[in-house]
Amino acid sequence: MSGTLTIGIFGPGKVGTAIARLAVAAGHRVEIAGSQRQESLQLLLDVLAPGAAQSRSVGTLAARSDLTILAVPFGRSVDLPYTSFSGRIIIDALNYWPAIDGVIAELDGIPQGTSEVIAARNPAARWVKSLNHLGYHDMDEHARPSSDPTRRAIAVASDDSDAKRFVSKFIDSVGFDPVDAGSLADGIHLQTGTAVFGRELSKAEFERMLVRPVSAAEPARRADAAA
Ligand SMILES: NC(=O)c1ccc[n+]([C@@H]2O[C@H](COP(=O)([O-])OP(=O)(O)OC[C@H]3O[C@@H](n4cnc5c(N)ncnc54)[C@H](OP(=O)(O)O)[C@@H]3O)[C@@H](O)[C@H]2O)c1
Repeated sequence: MSGTLTIGIFGPGKVGTAIARLAVAAGHRVEIAGSQRQESLQLLLDVLAPGAAQSRSVGTLAARSDLTILAVPFGRSVDLPYTSFSGRIIIDALNYWPAIDGVIAELDGIPQGTSEVIAARNPAARWVKSLNHLGYHDMDEHARPSSDPTRRAIAVASDDSDAKRFVSKFIDSVGFDPVDAGSLADGIHLQTGTAVFGRELSKAEFERMLVRPVSAAEPARRADAAA
């Protein structure tokens, strides 16, 4: 990975702008696409993520970006331009929260994690699950240089080892220790209700928890907690 990346983000909300702030601080270029109704998005970005630019062409954002990050509510994610993701590295940072998203029939009774559901919308994209298990405020407050012994870990799960390596370097560049969390299917162990979700963990702690979850119960496949 060369030093400066172009990062495309779908969703200029709490987590999208937090990731944008981290990426701008790390020296990356950031473009953000909002929903149709966000007419004054650049004004919002100038306040919440100075240095980030509104995407003027949502359909080609992924093609122009070295790395694309999905940060829209799961229930709104069907509207994204999936065909434009083919061959691109895409981070799925989404969580399914019924309290926010409503109950989604697509997820009813399926054994897969939500990242597999998203990935099935374009299997030709290079899907990576990451950045979903920590709060946006933690992104702001817990980023640290690599020399800091209190650095926090962020998991990276994917079937594409090159994409996983690429995203791991990005995670490192914005102030967190990347942890290899296995395949995209293994991303189910990062979802809401799992042992690691929302926990402040070092890399070593995270790796231990992934191997031996604190809860003996099968990690929740479905969100059942309030947002
Ligand atoms: N909040 C967190 O701490 C956190 C942490 C990690 C992961 N996540 C996950 O990240 C996702 C976003 O969470 P959030 O808290 O940032 O939500 P949020 O504050 O509600 O922001 C979502 C943003 O996405 C925009 N949006 C909706 N549909 C879009 C589309 N098709 N294209 C582009 N933008 C679109 C929304 O625009 P409108 O305002 O016009 O609807 C809004 O600006 C969720 O899946 C959540 O579970 C959240």
